[in-house]
Amino acid sequence: MPLNTTIPTLEHWKAAPSIDTLRSIYDASAHQWQDNLARLGQLHNYQLLFKSQAVCPYLSHIDQTSQILDCGVGTGAFSLALLESVAQPAHISGIDISHPMLTQAQQTLKNRCATLDLRCEDIRRLPFADESFDAVIFAHVLEHVAEPVETLREMSRVLKPGAPLIGSVTRKSLGQVLMSLHWHNRGYTSNQLASFLQATELEAVNSFDYGTGWSRWMCLAAVGVKPR
Ligand SMILES: C[S@@+](CC[C@H](N)C(=O)[O-])C[C@H]1O[C@@H](n2cnc3c(N)ncnc32)[C@H](O)[C@@H]1O
Repeated sequence: MPLNTTIPTLEHWKAAPSIDTLRSIYDASAHQWQDNLARLGQLHNYQLLFKSQAVCPYLSHIDQTSQILDCGVGTGAFSLALLESVAQPAHISGIDISHPMLTQAQQTLKNRCATLDLRCEDIRRLPFADESFDAVIFAHVLEHVAEPVETLREMSRVLKPGAPLIGSVTRKSLGQVLMSLHWHNRGYTSNQLASFLQATELEAVNSFDYGTGWSRWMCLAAVGVKPR
């Protein structure tokens, strides 16, 4: 007699989850996300990234009038690290599909930036006019979209000419494959990440390792600049 039980296979895990499934995974983790980042040393690693020679020169134009967009802002950790590396508090906009993550971001960022605009939206369709931002940043959200180049083009659309796009992604590795069983995150090589930014027609593209420990093992960063 055939068994009717569904046994999960690799094909099952490889399939991208629906946006609702992804949202519910992040909704459930929002209350502990910031603590988990701290435990992994990732709050410090994000600071090291924004203070690094690879990134710092691209933020020299940021002042209290600057508009920064964080795509997949989560609990606000990546924006906070940027704010800690610049001299004056800028205006932060953050986009995320998870309300509980945005509630945490509100707590993290409310006293740290000039103004805060958090919206529950999808980064594949940003609710902003062309050329609105002085910098666009993203951390560990590109792994969740099936169309990375189109999504990066959308981020580039809202960048002002000459402004930087700065992001972190999960490195393709055994650790990433194991993580993906729960988080459904893809992994990329340094060459893949750089080629995505080049296909977005950004200039001065650079993809590199950053931080220590977890970050060295699991993360990659990249920078590119929108042509003037
Ligand atoms: C791995 S977390 C990273 C959060 C934060 N950037 C950080 O580094 O701590 C990914 C975040 O992206 C959000 N996300 C996933 N897909 C998204 C989409 N298409 N549009 C907007 N946010 C998305 C999730 O809800 C989650 O908060």
